Amino acid sequence: MAGKVKTFKIHTLQDTQRFAQKLAPLLRPKDIILLRGDLGLGKTTLTRAIIHEIGLKDEEVPSPTFTLLQTYDTKCGPLYHFDFYRIRKPEEVYELGIEDAYAYGITLIEWGEKMGPLEPVKRALIIDMSMDKEKRIFKVQSDNLSWQNRIQEL
Ligand SMILES: Nc1ncnc2c1ncn2[C@@H]1O[C@H](COP(=O)(O)OP(=O)(O)OP(=O)(O)O)[C@@H](O)[C@H]1O
Ligand SMILES: [Mg+2]
Repeated sequence: MAGKVKTFKIHTLQDTQRFAQKLAPLLRPKDIILLRGDLGLGKTTLTRAIIHEIGLKDEEVPSPTFTLLQTYDTKCGPLYHFDFYRIRKPEEVYELGIEDAYAYGITLIEWGEKMGPLEPVKRALIIDMSMDKEKRIFKVQSDNLSWQNRIQEL
């Protein structure tokens, strides 16, 4: 990973919302975000906040744990929210339409590790979540120049 890492301390749900408020306006079609972090760290919660900030204020935004994919029509085009926790082999992501997502949409991925070599680590914005005592830490970075420029706006 070449880009600089930017770190955010997240104490409350409101902090996640504030982070989403900064990130959402920077999003555009063909963007990919990899949400990394253990069970319950807040990947779906951040996605929900982003979707609310992108104009869908009242959207429920359920976790795609079982459906594997939820899609949304936003003012920035289609948004694809994947959760690959339950896939058994990387190739399953093709059946779920990942290539359409990359081509036309904004793509948010939970459990991208399950994609193995298909994980789009070079192109994506990577948000690494961890716990530090009571608070969450979001570490944000990318190898992608366009994202590196936008990270400075966060
Ligand atoms: N910033 C936050 N402050 C306090 N609680 C939070 C925060 N973010 C998430 N939570 C809480 O943590 C719990 C798990 O959140 P969430 O479902 O978003 O995790 P996840 O990373 O998507 O988990 P999974 O790996 O199972 O998909 C929820 O109860 C949520 O309300
Ligand atoms: Mg989740």
